[in-house]
Amino acid sequence: MRLILPAQALLAFATAQLYDASNSLTALVGTANYTDPSLIGNYYNYWKLKNNNTLYDLTRADRLPVTSPKLIPMLGSRKEALIEPSRTALVIIDMQNFFLHPLLAPHATNGRKAVQPTLDMIRAFRAAGMKVLWVNWGIDAFDLVTLPPSFLEGFSSNHQMNTSFCTEMGELQESNGTTVDMGKLLCRGSWNARPWGPLAPALDEGLAAGTDLYFNKNRLSGLWGAQTPLGLYLQESQTTSLFLGGVNSDQCVWGNLIDAYFKGFDTVYVEDMSGTSSPWYAEEMVRYNADGDGFLANSTYVIDALNKQKGGYQG
Ligand SMILES: *[C@@H]1O[C@H](CO)[C@@H](O)[C@H](O)[C@H]1NC(C)=O
Ligand SMILES: *[C@@H]1O[C@H](CO)[C@@H](O)[C@H](O)[C@H]1NC(C)=O
Ligand SMILES: *[C@@H]1O[C@H](CO)[C@@H](O)[C@H](O)[C@H]1NC(C)=O
Ligand SMILES: *[C@@H]1O[C@H](CO)[C@@H](O)[C@H](O)[C@H]1NC(C)=O
Ligand SMILES: *[C@@H]1O[C@H](CO)[C@@H](O)[C@H](O)[C@H]1NC(C)=O
Repeated sequence: MRLILPAQALLAFATAQLYDASNSLTALVGTANYTDPSLIGNYYNYWKLKNNNTLYDLTRADRLPVTSPKLIPMLGSRKEALIEPSRTALVIIDMQNFFLHPLLAPHATNGRKAVQPTLDMIRAFRAAGMKVLWVNWGIDAFDLVTLPPSFLEGFSSNHQMNTSFCTEMGELQESNGTTVDMGKLLCRGSWNARPWGPLAPALDEGLAAGTDLYFNKNRLSGLWGAQTPLGLYLQESQTTSLFLGGVNSDQCVWGNLIDAYFKGFDTVYVEDMSGTSSPWYAEEMVRYNADGDGFLANSTYVIDALNKQKGGYQG
């Protein structure tokens, strides 16, 4: 055994050399350059500030290939961002029947208002070759035994486990008379966990075309903890910039946004793609802090900019 161990160690060392595990967000070392006034960050993950600090170049173009960067006007204190389409994604959070269907969520008027801007953004992102990522509650059997009591009680209507996650919700009668089996509460594959209304066919279309990807999550955030399927995808695809929207702005959207920010992604909160049924000050909190942590955007200006720069930003 003693003779074998060093050989194994040598082999491990030799094979480790074959792996370049660095990527824009997870690499541990870099060259901090304090003499370049436009550079914020390190070799792997950085912004460049241009035009007297009004244009934020998020492309990481010194190290990674660029295709057709787009200049996107923003609403908040950071006015413009240059994005690289191959490293930018749209993240749609919790636009599910459970949270948006008028019979299940009668107060979700703000969320339902976000549907059309979401559909518009999906179309524009796909046309620009940018990935659309659906991030939804989708509880499975393993999640059920690992979910904390605060979640189980919070999603229960009677303070008992028997109305919480993955319990049968019964049937619902659509206004046209169709009866729907709602399935198990936010359980993976159930009707109530499907995207609401026109978003459902939009998802199916995107999955079939390969422009969209679907991620189940088991907390408000799809990026919490050490790693999640969404986190791994973003890391492996070297995605750096996320445009986020969905419901509720102050809960699941905020949870995803703040985790993305903590992990080093650029975050863009798309105001009209998001909504909440919480009090107005909850939405104000999200806008205030999303502006501080990243960028604020409106679908109208984003889509307009993408349409006008099909050949890329000429700056
Ligand atoms: C830091 O930036 C300056 C100005 O762009 C450049 O001249 C210098 O080579 C950089 N240093 C390193 C270590 O990259
Ligand atoms: C650059 O921005 C600063 C602060 O906003 C401003 O005072 C200054 O006039 C600007 N410089 C130019 C050349 O626009
Ligand atoms: C949950 O269990 C209680 C008994 O503890 C029962 O009265 C109630 O009907 C159950 N609810 C459902 C939805 O099964
Ligand atoms: C009734 O409405 C639902 C939801 O919009 C739809 O999926 C279903 O196809 C409709 N059924 C009929 C018979 O039109
Ligand atoms: C944002 O876009 C919506 C359309 O989704 C539009 O009605 C609204 O006026 C825009 N907001 C701003 C601040 O321009």
